[in-house]
Amino acid sequence: MTLTPLQLAAAFTERFGAEPSGIWSAPGRVNLIGEHTDYNDGFVLPFAINHSTMVAARPRADRSVRVCSTLTPDDVVLSDLDALTPGSVKGWAAYPLGVLWAMERAGYSTPGLDLLVDSSVPVGAGLSSSAAIECAVAVAANDLSESNLSLTELVAIGQLAENEMVGAPTGIMDQSASLLGEAGHAVFLDCRSRESRLVPLDLEGAGLELLVMDTRVSHSHATGGYAARRRSCELGAELMGVAALRDLSVGDLAEAAGVLDEETFRRVRHIVTENARVQDAVDVLSGKGPAALGKLMATSHASMRDDFEISCAELDTAVDTAVSAGAIGARMTGGGFGGAAIALVRSADSAAVTDAVARAFAEAGFTAPVIFPVLPASGAGRVA
Ligand code: GLA
Repeated sequence: MTLTPLQLAAAFTERFGAEPSGIWSAPGRVNLIGEHTDYNDGFVLPFAINHSTMVAARPRADRSVRVCSTLTPDDVVLSDLDALTPGSVKGWAAYPLGVLWAMERAGYSTPGLDLLVDSSVPVGAGLSSSAAIECAVAVAANDLSESNLSLTELVAIGQLAENEMVGAPTGIMDQSASLLGEAGHAVFLDCRSRESRLVPLDLEGAGLELLVMDTRVSHSHATGGYAARRRSCELGAELMGVAALRDLSVGDLAEAAGVLDEETFRRVRHIVTENARVQDAVDVLSGKGPAALGKLMATSHASMRDDFEISCAELDTAVDTAVSAGAIGARMTGGGFGGAAIALVRSADSAAVTDAVARAFAEAGFTAPVIFPVLPASGAGRVA
């Protein structure tokens, strides 16, 4: 659902019988470029989007947590903070409860809480609906416990929750975008040093739109392919004698071809070239502007399709059709195996690209895609 903060506060009061202490919000994200580079200590360039998760929260006198969502307000998950362990919570409640568990695990104490969550980030679309929940709960718990954790520390708390409580071996990109994003900017993040820099991304000013093309093919990073790709990268780094693939450059690929088996080599080549593309994209944005990103988006998508093998027929159809219909560039975004692709289009071409992709999906017999524009928005914080 998409409630206003006031409506969410009213729903909280109705559900829990007392007013919330406040409302916090955290956005989903789109990654402009830099896929699977985060857990290789590399570079990413995501931005926070204008779709977010809100949480109404109120501390409790005991160590219980009650959490429910506006989609299923009667489904309250009740938990004891001291009894939380990895694997003990099933379903979406593992995200909010995981954050509270991770805070305590990192040495900060949080009070028991009543939480009501409302989200406008489509679930399973590759827009990090899970990081949005984690970050909204993280900023709420940080404020209510007066722990004063920095945004970088909150990123680590969100990642710990996702890695341990949810069991998805993901990196820090999604939480970083959700916490560090600013309206009109992308976040250029060095995942090794954790330093970040805001890069202006004025789509409207350039007469552009960024379309999300949600393929409706759902994915889960807690299973299968994502973890397998991560293992290949770690194997590649080990065989090449470096701490992480970040330490290899395009010039090292010739040597890597002789050392690695064919499949591991292609996985490594994706990461090494993708890291270079992120840095090129930052240069392009500060020099020529977003309209010049098309070629980098195309090579990034081809690398994910052919070398990293994380695309699928629906994502390839969305990307190829968007470009044929006039998009400046298109690529899948996020972890892959489904989820969404993005297309950068001139505003005047937006409707034609949208229609063409919808038609191509119908012709291929795929589930109808959901296509909508997003804007770079500001990161997580208290809204009421
Ligand atoms: C998912 C993960 C991120 C990142 C991307 C791929 O979104 O949560 O950490 O690895 O996939 O770039």
